Amino acid sequence: MSKDVVANHFDQYAAKWHDRLEQYSFRSRRDVVRAMVQDHRFGVVVDVGCGTGDYAPLFNPAESNYHGIDISEKMVVECRKLYPDYEFSVGDGDKSGLSDNFADLVLSIGVLEYYDEPEAHFTEISRITKKGGTAIIAVPNGDNIAREREQRFIDFMAPVRRLKKSLIPSKKPKKAEGYVKDERIKHKRYTESQMASLGNGYGLEITEARFVNLLLIPHILDRFVRLNPFISERFPSNLMKGVARKYSSILICRYEKR
Ligand SMILES: C[S@@+](CC[C@H](N)C(=O)[O-])C[C@H]1O[C@@H](n2cnc3c(N)ncnc32)[C@H](O)[C@@H]1O
Repeated sequence: MSKDVVANHFDQYAAKWHDRLEQYSFRSRRDVVRAMVQDHRFGVVVDVGCGTGDYAPLFNPAESNYHGIDISEKMVVECRKLYPDYEFSVGDGDKSGLSDNFADLVLSIGVLEYYDEPEAHFTEISRITKKGGTAIIAVPNGDNIAREREQRFIDFMAPVRRLKKSLIPSKKPKKAEGYVKDERIKHKRYTESQMASLGNGYGLEITEARFVNLLLIPHILDRFVRLNPFISERFPSNLMKGVARKYSSILICRYEKR
């Protein structure tokens, strides 16, 4: 995926990206990152691929020097409107221009998946993280089997949908406002063991891995009842990590730089 394609894609999303926090998966991803950082003091924080800067308020400006960078210029414009007390700039997740050992904490939340290969982003994260510092990387969970199950269910229901279509004239499909589909945009997924071995190659050791947004009930059934968020909130994922690993859409890894 070329960076121009990614930047252009997110430029088109920028005005609406912040509203995604209304969705359970985005909100819970931020809640888990909040839990990972709240008992620590980080002098310098770099949020790579910060989107609309929604992780900035996790840090008190009096205690932390937060700096968000994003490849999309329009995202950075939104950041400055939403969070004027924090610092944002246009920047690249593998050529940030920041000095070595710059940050006590580096966040990369939902960014690695837009790279064809993970190495350049890992190299940069490791380079700008101080020794003993922390990096938190969130990716689509590569062990998630719920997606394939979802597809099997959709395929299974296809004849019913075709019959319904032939009997009832279809309305125009509704598109979520602000959503721009681009077939060139792919989301790479990573398993916990891939994230561990990638980190190892760059002096980053996993100290915590959390699975977020359980999808135990197929979306097609759950979209009206919304039981998945209910179960997710109450699920003791640390007790049943095997289930969480297989049915969660998001993996969040916390690393320590050796
Ligand atoms: C899925 S959004 C996540 C935004 C934010 N981290 C959040 O969780 O709300 C991915 C963001 O990463 C940015 N991005 C993608 N590739 C990048 C790169 N190579 N360098 C910097 N930012 C990048 C995009 O522009 C987009 O704003």
